[in-house]
Amino acid sequence: MSEAEQDVPVITIDGPTASGKGTITRLLAQRLGWHILDSGALYRLVALAARKHGIPLNDAEALRDLAEHLDVEFVPDAASGEILTLLEGEDVTAELRTETCGNDASKVAAIPAVREALLARQRAFRRPPGLVADGRDMGTVVFPDARLKIFLTASAEERARRRYNQLKQKGLDVSMRDLLDEIAERDARDRDRAASPLVPAADAIQVDTSDMTIDDVVNRLWELSQERL
Ligand code: CDP
Repeated sequence: MSEAEQDVPVITIDGPTASGKGTITRLLAQRLGWHILDSGALYRLVALAARKHGIPLNDAEALRDLAEHLDVEFVPDAASGEILTLLEGEDVTAELRTETCGNDASKVAAIPAVREALLARQRAFRRPPGLVADGRDMGTVVFPDARLKIFLTASAEERARRRYNQLKQKGLDVSMRDLLDEIAERDARDRDRAASPLVPAADAIQVDTSDMTIDDVVNRLWELSQERL
């Protein structure tokens, strides 16, 4: 890492699925005027690209190749201003957020060669004035020198409820039972894998958001960031 990069402050927000990392990261970064890294999106993109090219989700070598050469662009939509994700030129913004894609992502994310291939791409998001990075191993592996490391948690029931409301809002038909099962399965896979398992960094601050509103969490993290920066 160059000295210039090291000077750019990073806040890492790790935690299990549906713990609110994405929303909190976006709001905190907005308040700070900093950049965002949604590292989960990169694993989701590898999973989507694999499907597109008919590559099985256990073919480590082919998946590493995909991850290394991932052709992805983030472009603002002229009409809505929303950021669109283009994979090999095709708009995959909606497909990227499906539960199927999240599940596939957690399978490719268990492969060490894929994680290794995405490291440099993730670190390249570290640009002035600062970066808020969201994922599973942001504080442990990708940015071990981060100024502030947060580990967000919430009970599995509360996370299932949040994911349920999120999907309902998008007009998708889901069952609470299925979501709870999927969350438990994904937690186990993320936590038990050998490569960069989901564990809080030794110097991370754990925040249980089960009984907190989004505003409560953002305010708490904002206070912590002001103490550290
Ligand atoms: O939104 P949600 O938290 O469910 O998923 P995500 O953050 O988009 O990540 C999708 C999957 O990618 C996770 O289940 C993890 O297995 C994997 N992932 C990872 O291993 N490391 C990261 N830094 C980010 C995501």
